[in-house]
Amino acid sequence: MKFAPFVGLLVGSLAGLGTSSLHSRDHDSNDYYVLHLDRSTNPDHVASRLRLRNEGQLGELADHFIFRAPKADHDVVRREVMERRKRSLGGTDILDAVKSSHKQKLRAPMQKRVIPPPPRGFFPRQRPADKAAEDKALKEQMLVMETLGIKDPIFKEQWHLFNPVQLGQDVNVTGVWLAGVTGKNATVAMVDDGLDMNSRDLKPNYYAFGSWDFNDNRAEPRPTLDDDKHGTRCAGEVSAAKNDVCGVGVAYDSKIAGIRILSKQITDADEAAAMNYDYQHNQIYSCSWGPPDDGKSMDAPSLLIRKAMLNGVQKGRNGLGSIYVFATGNGAPSDDNCNFDGYTNSIYSISVGAIDREGLHPYYSEKCSAQLVVTYSSGSGDAIHTTDVGENQCYNGHGGTSAAAPLAAGVFALALEVRPDLSWRDMQYITLASAVPVDLEDGEYQPTTMGKQYSHTFGYGKVDAYALVETAKTWKNVKPQAWFFSPWLHVKKEIPQGDQGLSVNFKVTKKMLEEANLERLEHVTVTMNVEHTQRGDLSVDLISPDNVISHISAVRKLDKSDQGYNDWTFMSVAHWGESGVGTWTIIIRDTQVNDQKGTFIDWHLKLWGESIDASKAKPLPMPTDEDDADHDATTTATPTVVTTSP
Ligand SMILES: *[C@@H]1O[C@H](CO)[C@@H](O)[C@H](O)[C@H]1NC(C)=O
Ligand SMILES: *[C@@H]1O[C@H](CO)[C@@H](O)[C@H](O)[C@H]1NC(C)=O
Repeated sequence: MKFAPFVGLLVGSLAGLGTSSLHSRDHDSNDYYVLHLDRSTNPDHVASRLRLRNEGQLGELADHFIFRAPKADHDVVRREVMERRKRSLGGTDILDAVKSSHKQKLRAPMQKRVIPPPPRGFFPRQRPADKAAEDKALKEQMLVMETLGIKDPIFKEQWHLFNPVQLGQDVNVTGVWLAGVTGKNATVAMVDDGLDMNSRDLKPNYYAFGSWDFNDNRAEPRPTLDDDKHGTRCAGEVSAAKNDVCGVGVAYDSKIAGIRILSKQITDADEAAAMNYDYQHNQIYSCSWGPPDDGKSMDAPSLLIRKAMLNGVQKGRNGLGSIYVFATGNGAPSDDNCNFDGYTNSIYSISVGAIDREGLHPYYSEKCSAQLVVTYSSGSGDAIHTTDVGENQCYNGHGGTSAAAPLAAGVFALALEVRPDLSWRDMQYITLASAVPVDLEDGEYQPTTMGKQYSHTFGYGKVDAYALVETAKTWKNVKPQAWFFSPWLHVKKEIPQGDQGLSVNFKVTKKMLEEANLERLEHVTVTMNVEHTQRGDLSVDLISPDNVISHISAVRKLDKSDQGYNDWTFMSVAHWGESGVGTWTIIIRDTQVNDQKGTFIDWHLKLWGESIDASKAKPLPMPTDEDDADHDATTTATPTVVTTSP
């Protein structure tokens, strides 16, 4: 698709977008650079100084521009900027306005979180059925269908919406629908491998204006590859219409957009633009993907994508903040843990894991301290029944945490129908406040300061649509965000092997938090540097002043990397509601007695939460390449070897 430049500008300004997303990319003959420029500078002047072409702003990121250059092996922008700095002839040069430049590389797309094959010797537990109760439930189901006029042919298979067999094992949404809440006026964007807007199940709710195909540079996110079915299946869970095709979405009157990024190689610039696409109208971004769930990867979104997510929570939805929903990942059989994935462990995303139709933890769903909640997906012999690619196609095998995240995103759409004024942080509060703990015997729950139960397997429990919407109705919006960052804390000590751990701590005083304008905690992050010749041997616990324990890192048998942790940030939601005042302890263990050894270098504690005085709150500055680089401004912590077992 080729627009004349003025048409691009017109369409771009209509859509409130940077024009760059409307230029088609030609990576065979061109290189693309993202330049962050000083606000007062005209990007066209910088472009002409560099003899490059300015293709316009990068998505919604202010002061970031895409420049096009003929293909070359070297980095032409860096070369010119270095040259200028080296000569340092004084005077002024427009290149002094270049704050950063990133040459874009096509890379593999993120991976879809579909159902992995069950491990050998895996038998789901069964629960006995209660015939009388089942008959009663079937009658109730009939009544719901009659009352609401649901004639969708596979509705009765959609146990995740109404389960007449395992009673109570569903998202408890029919009462919400009966009260008239079905997702009207709420919009979810499915960031995935496309969305079949010609499916008769999705067509009535398809939101074209919020849709874009970043893989093929066109307005319609239509699936083209054989494998492009994931996004459509996820979209059906949210927004499949109440009609005569397949089943219904959990928010069947919500609007659904498709943003296609998973079908081909992509640049960080395009992924960043995707995460903010039409962010005044797309309210919720449902993301069932991430780095490989192989128990070895430790990948975070690049700087540009992190900027886009912060931009989304600060400016999306007129400042209320985009709601990012991420699947925790399916790597549990490989000991993977969602704290090794920088998308799911971002404080800006709501991480959603899975439970199956027996209400049990499915073998694939990853654990971690960043997981907020779980909801229904495949396991115990069944999966999610939803819409498929095609005019009138259904699918009965959708699963993995890929199917859990959109179900939660759809429930959030129900909440936004009744309370469109909820901020991104309000949505996190409501989600955890209304979550219902599941499998109390095996969940390894611990009581938290705010009177909830937290499990690394289930987060705060499962999403209950009725409870979530009821909580939303009367929710009092929280004050803006505030934060406290400790200095870098030097340790530089070898980690003892076996059950012993190396313990270090940092004392947070009331005064520190008052100065930081921080009233009570939401997220806690710990950025760490550890050298180790076999990273997977390590585990790390964070213990709060209120004695809540977050297993922020866990042993990963397959992770043989000798790279250790490099400024890696772990996150926990288990400390929600604590004051933060007192001693925070880190215990790092080298769990395997072997030849692989390591040293704990330093760490950095960050407490995030609600401000004391809203009028003093300010937005977090955009991240830069230099964040966390100031390792010298440190305090030396006194490490002690402890002998508690893990
Ligand atoms: C499930 O919804 C019903 C209303 O349909 C409600 O009475 C019940 O309390 C809800 N369950 C929870 C855990 O809130
Ligand atoms: C949808 O939102 C618009 C704008 O906020 C509002 O005017 C309208 O009343 C809403 N419609 C419904 C059905 O809630």
